[in-house]
Amino acid sequence: MTDGEGWPTSTDNPPVRRLSDWPAEPLRDLADEYGTPLYVQDLGRVKANASRLREAFPGADLSYAVKANATRAVLETLADRGVGAECAAAGEVKRALAAGFPARRVRYTAVNPPARDLDYVCGLEAADELVLTVGAADTLDRVAERGFDGRLCVRVNPGVGAGHHAKVSTGAEPKFGVPYDRAADVVDRAIDHGFEVVGLHAHAGSGISGDELSAHRELVRRMGTLAGEVRDVGLTFVAVGGGFGVPYRGDEPPLDLDAVATATREAYAAGWREGAGETADESDRAQLAIEPGRYFVADAGVLLTTVNTVKPTPDTTVVGVDAGMTTLLRPAMYEAYHELRSLEPGAPRRGRVTCDVSGPICETADVLARGRSLPDPGRGDLLAVGNAGAYGYEMAGNYNSRPRPAVVAVEHGEARLAARRETLAGLTRLEPKAEDS
Ligand code: LLP
Repeated sequence: MTDGEGWPTSTDNPPVRRLSDWPAEPLRDLADEYGTPLYVQDLGRVKANASRLREAFPGADLSYAVKANATRAVLETLADRGVGAECAAAGEVKRALAAGFPARRVRYTAVNPPARDLDYVCGLEAADELVLTVGAADTLDRVAERGFDGRLCVRVNPGVGAGHHAKVSTGAEPKFGVPYDRAADVVDRAIDHGFEVVGLHAHAGSGISGDELSAHRELVRRMGTLAGEVRDVGLTFVAVGGGFGVPYRGDEPPLDLDAVATATREAYAAGWREGAGETADESDRAQLAIEPGRYFVADAGVLLTTVNTVKPTPDTTVVGVDAGMTTLLRPAMYEAYHELRSLEPGAPRRGRVTCDVSGPICETADVLARGRSLPDPGRGDLLAVGNAGAYGYEMAGNYNSRPRPAVVAVEHGEARLAARRETLAGLTRLEPKAEDS
């Protein structure tokens, strides 16, 4: 269904928006107006994704993992929907508060926090309203030294990990959280410090598929058990992370969100009974909290890129485009697969060619897709890259002194600039000018 401008509407809210569902003509107009590479984020789809999450997890506390996409347009959209914000750094806390998330709905998950981050968060006027999550016992001392007297959560290393790539499997990586067997001690220590301990937290990893539900279930069960064991503390929530996967390939089925929700609820209840004992009062059970990032934003975004060069070689046809690993890092970093689509009007009638689609960065890793079949590409063609709304713009960088792309937010068929394209002059803005030194 479209809203008359060609943009899909969210009335029937399908579980996934495929790259082929995006309307070609409005995307071509945006590329003409704003240039490429260009991220396009459909805020209507972000809202629709939020609604599906809420419906699947009716009793849970729902937060957004800001790291997936921290542009103000996205944050305002989700703050407006009453979703909370899970932040990984002081900068994300600052952005979340500025975008209108109430401090009471902001959780700062401090991973090995730099002093500057703790100074900022503990020094906020609203510091006592937000939740600070510690993943190491000594962070308690560092937070106490800064006079923090707000709500505290203990991040636990659940010992089970999952995810689309080893680099994003978190749950068993020692860097994250206090070891499971020591978690109850750290909770006690926090209470001795005088903190109000309101939650426990764990995260298995990112991009969990339906096949990996058993790892997720096990993590949730373990967290339920721990929460049951420490129930006298009076926890208000148990956060079991995000990580819900989205289908990156056109033929991949979407995640069955209801199945994930049921598994989560059941595992939590079973774990809690195990920890608290069969006779424990179930009304003591803390609220379940989830904090997806990718699921809210991934299929709400595409990246538009223009073909610069077409080069036949004995092995393949190299299609050089103006977006590379500094625009979208995921293929280089995780060998991630992203769908590609030609937006040229005549593309369906062209013959197909197997191509390597490469960026403009002087690195072998700078290839967005290898061995991909595309309608015979020509210089100037506009291509769309699917599922670019999560960890796309957010992970963009300046390597090779390449300016970051622009971002456009679309809602009800109206487009507005959400982030300006960086300029060549802007690249040196942080360096002292010759006359200053
Ligand atoms: N909560 C915590 C504590 C996390 O560390 C993360 C992601 C999330 C929630 C959200 O996970 P999500 O629902 O988005 O999967 N750059 C990688 C993903 C790294 C995720 C890191 N942590 C990628 O592009 O696949």
